[in-house]
Amino acid sequence: MQAINSLPVHSGELWTARQRQMHPIHYTISYRGSFKPELPDFFINRYLKVPGVVLDPFGGRGTTTLQANLLGHRAVHNDLNPVSVFLARSRQNVPAMKILEKRLDALQLDRRMKPTPEEKERLSPFFHPRTLSEILCLKSELLDNMEDPAMRYIGVTALSRLHGHSDGFFSVYSFPQISIMPGAQRKNNARLGQKPEYRSIRERILRKMKRDLSLPLPGVFNEAARGNRYISENSQDLKTVRTSSVDLIVTSPPFLDKVDYISDNWMRSWFLGLESATSSIELSVMNSLSEWEDFMRATLFEMGRVLRPGARAVVEVGEVKSRSVLLNLEQVLAGLLPIRVPGGELAVEEILINEQKFTKLSNCWDVKNNEKGTNTNRCLIVRKNLRKA
Ligand SMILES: C[S@@+](CC[C@H](N)C(=O)[O-])C[C@H]1O[C@@H](n2cnc3c(N)ncnc32)[C@H](O)[C@@H]1O
Repeated sequence: MQAINSLPVHSGELWTARQRQMHPIHYTISYRGSFKPELPDFFINRYLKVPGVVLDPFGGRGTTTLQANLLGHRAVHNDLNPVSVFLARSRQNVPAMKILEKRLDALQLDRRMKPTPEEKERLSPFFHPRTLSEILCLKSELLDNMEDPAMRYIGVTALSRLHGHSDGFFSVYSFPQISIMPGAQRKNNARLGQKPEYRSIRERILRKMKRDLSLPLPGVFNEAARGNRYISENSQDLKTVRTSSVDLIVTSPPFLDKVDYISDNWMRSWFLGLESATSSIELSVMNSLSEWEDFMRATLFEMGRVLRPGARAVVEVGEVKSRSVLLNLEQVLAGLLPIRVPGGELAVEEILINEQKFTKLSNCWDVKNNEKGTNTNRCLIVRKNLRKA
């Protein structure tokens, strides 16, 4: 731990604090714990001077993958949660707006589809019966045509519209970023005196697609994205990623926290027919600092193995409270290094801290960032060095 104090630490406003400044395709869908696209943008521009391969072992909604492709790099998107893999892959091949509009138009959404009794119990607090019938029609079209890029793009847009605050969503007033439990929604409905009214899903999907595709994708995007890989492996054992094959990693691991990516995404899993798949996976949820350190030690080893010598990994972490002590996790991570990895050694290069005046909307990691009025991204930069003989 002593050496940590002598590490170079740079802080400042590394990218804009303004919201939604990058390509609108990034904002197709929200995801709890996602970072701003400015973060991968900053590091990809800083470290990759020629087209390369960028990996995110904890891909989430695919922010790193998308930004890598927008800048002309190929990407490997990994996440143990299959919902995340869908979110990322649905934007690998983005058809032209005309094609999407035609496909959406051709969908038969007004067949009357009945929910199962279980679906009715879980979904009726959110949706009017007619809206739910349209959602069921769309779900069945999507599951029958998963290999059609237009259907996947319509599907991801529908996922983003399932529930939220405004009239742009399919549901009655609900929480936008995570799917709350049906019981909690029932209570909200009673408290607010609200009842789901009919909302046509077709026009809401169309409006949102037009907004997200209002700027053309850069010419380099399609070719770069064609070379992507989407995998769902444990970060501690990236079986299908070859040793020394990656030019940059930009990632944000699960923190020592209470975020439950499976239950947060239950309605998305249902819509994608992935509930049985997600019930059998175990996302890493660490209850103590030592568990998190063990998890990250194994993950850092894998990251070191797959990086080519000379390449870097950027690991964004936060501050967390453990037994009422505020911990800077990048320093905890730095304490785990250097480690020997196949083809070299993974060592700390520096710590970069992005600090900006910003009021955090939520306080999900026990850190009241809004008290200070600043938001920080703490990034540990590590490099794979060739081991001296
Ligand atoms: C902090 S989020 C990453 C968000 C991402 N940076 C984005 O912008 O959307 C962490 C992700 O790690 C995934 N995850 C948790 N445990 C994992 C594991 N052992 N291996 C791979 N992915 C895991 C979760 O499903 C979640 O999507």
